[in-house]
Amino acid sequence: MTDSIRFPSNFTWGVATSAFQIEGAFDADGKGPSIWDTFSHDPANIIDGSNGDVACDHYNRYRDDVAMMASLGVNAYRFSMAWARVQPTGKGAWNEPGFDFYTRLLDALDEKGIVAHITLYHWDLPQGLQDDGGWMSRDTAHRFADYAAEVARRFGNRVASIATHNEPWCTANLGYGNGQFAPGVADKKQAIQVSHHLLLSHGLAMQAMRAVNPTCQLGIVLNQWTAEPATDTEADRRLAALEWANSVEWFMDPIFKRRYPALSLEAHGANAPVVHAGDFDIIAQPLDFLGVNYYRREVMSAEVPPRKPEGGLGFTDMGWEIYPQGLTDLLVQLKQEYPDLPPVYITENGMAAVDSVGADGQVDDTQRVEYVRTHLEALKAAMDAGVDVRGYFLWSLMDNFEWNSGYEKRFGIVYVDYATQQRIPKASALWYRDFIAGQRAAL
Ligand code: NOJ
Repeated sequence: MTDSIRFPSNFTWGVATSAFQIEGAFDADGKGPSIWDTFSHDPANIIDGSNGDVACDHYNRYRDDVAMMASLGVNAYRFSMAWARVQPTGKGAWNEPGFDFYTRLLDALDEKGIVAHITLYHWDLPQGLQDDGGWMSRDTAHRFADYAAEVARRFGNRVASIATHNEPWCTANLGYGNGQFAPGVADKKQAIQVSHHLLLSHGLAMQAMRAVNPTCQLGIVLNQWTAEPATDTEADRRLAALEWANSVEWFMDPIFKRRYPALSLEAHGANAPVVHAGDFDIIAQPLDFLGVNYYRREVMSAEVPPRKPEGGLGFTDMGWEIYPQGLTDLLVQLKQEYPDLPPVYITENGMAAVDSVGADGQVDDTQRVEYVRTHLEALKAAMDAGVDVRGYFLWSLMDNFEWNSGYEKRFGIVYVDYATQQRIPKASALWYRDFIAGQRAAL
């Protein structure tokens, strides 16, 4: 089936990673500590007691990793920069050896003809800024804009795009709402205020980057899902509407409509964020692209215990329902609700599976092949329905540090043996390679 799908000839085919999850070298060459260094150095915070000190040792192995990407035939790589590597405390002097690493990485990508899509913030705030209040402090938004401007000044002409934040919903709700992620705060009111400061920092960074580099493609990456009522009852439908408001509209409305969704504000009550006059004008900067990370849908049930999704296509090792149709539904719904939707990139999509190396030395992840194949079909269906999608990044290039799940959850299309740092392309990597080659051959 997928063989007959034809994506546009200029479509971006990529893989994605993030700094903390792969780089390791947590204190090399002047890098400062980030909140994820601090958080993961307390083994109680991570399910397998691990941390990111070495991770995939990508800091030292980036050349081989880029060669591996090239062997898969991808034409794009999405990665994030570790802020504390280039500015150890999040303010003040730049750390040149830190920038040198990203220069070397960009050089290696250039050599292979792979374009870079970079993300400025994939959750690893410099600890120095956390000590000053972290994202609860409005000042952090201004520090972020300074960092963004410096990156745009140095690298703006070398990269295909720059995204400000990755999944600010997670930073706010997992970092501050339930404490599962760094900095480990569990306080709903703070989570909501943090989400506002993240949006503010996004707007300030967009302005700052445009000022230094007017041609660079700028955007934000949001994790989004459809929220469907488990049954047709009024209670389930209300829950689903609220979930959509709290997850998708909470971040989209300020950017596209200069306001927060009324449903969420009503539900938040006294926890609603403090918003200064003019904040929405800053936040609502035009985007050159929207990055969408899609993994699953959410099924909302008011029953106790809640009804579970049927999961006809199964669940991933994270326990997430496999539901490709949700990707079509999500994109079509976004386009309806935000007619000015800019071009979209699927900046992440993929699944965790229990992968192991077989006796033949191969990793047979058939379920992941099916996951990717069906999601690409769903993506094409959304494009056929009129959504302007420019590219797809598979999460992830290789197994890596899955945050509070440590190394136990494997999302890679390339297997990583952490004892030896050997990389073994899984069946899904070979499938993706052949799929991309098939798209090119059909041109
Ligand atoms: C989204 C995040 O951006 C990424 O860091 C994470 O590993 C994947 N989802 C999988 O959970």
